[in-house]
Amino acid sequence: MKVKRIASLVILTVITASLVLAAVPAGAEKKSLGARTIAPPSPVWLICSYDSAGNPNMMTASWVGVVCSKPPCVAVSLREATYTFGNIKEHEAYTVNIPSEKLAAVSAYAGIVSGRDTDKFADTGLTAVKSDLVDAPYIEECELVIECRLIKTVELGLHTMFIGEIIDVKADEEILGENGSPDPEMHQPFIWSVGGYGFYGLGEHIGRVGELAKKYME
Ligand SMILES: Cc1cc2nc3c(=O)[nH]c(=O)nc-3n(C[C@H](O)[C@H](O)[C@H](O)COP(=O)(O)O)c2cc1C
Repeated sequence: MKVKRIASLVILTVITASLVLAAVPAGAEKKSLGARTIAPPSPVWLICSYDSAGNPNMMTASWVGVVCSKPPCVAVSLREATYTFGNIKEHEAYTVNIPSEKLAAVSAYAGIVSGRDTDKFADTGLTAVKSDLVDAPYIEECELVIECRLIKTVELGLHTMFIGEIIDVKADEEILGENGSPDPEMHQPFIWSVGGYGFYGLGEHIGRVGELAKKYME
């Protein structure tokens, strides 16, 4: 009789424990960081535009990305307080200049001071080139440049997203790999890590997608 009671107690405890464990959501052991803009890696782009007087300006942006393949589009999200915001609204165009590590200091500077207060091209000694295709300048010294025509503006809150159709991509020959596209090892773009970590280089090549996926396809 006593043995029977102990056995049913053990069974009851096991059932209760498994029910409790099943109720714990997967991933509950992770620490919540809250609703913040942490989505590494964040790109570092230099957005160039003309102001009302036709002066070129550059600003650093990381809330950016490719958002459509056909038509090819990119989006950059800017605060209204930036000088670039008004420039893009007025000229309905901008260029995305993807800097290499050589331009890391320029990218830091262009993200701290405003074109409203200073001429960032003069300060950094970089050259503004007038685009033939869109009403915006690009940076001669930047190895990869994307010329964009504004096609949509989406007000999100603190930031407004400017969606630009890619009209052309221009690259220096020296960063083009064997397949004719920019090779990351030759270009050396870099990323920004939110949370005070700063800029990081890209590191080692991990593998081609087709090759890596094979592990689960065979
Ligand atoms: C790494 C980095 C990334 C940034 N990303 C953005 C961004 O995505 N959007 C934005 O509005 N400001 C961003 N900023 C801040 C602007 O670059 C900064 O306000 C700049 O002074 C604006 O320049 P402008 O007034 O000449 O347009 C970033 C700054 C840094 C350093």
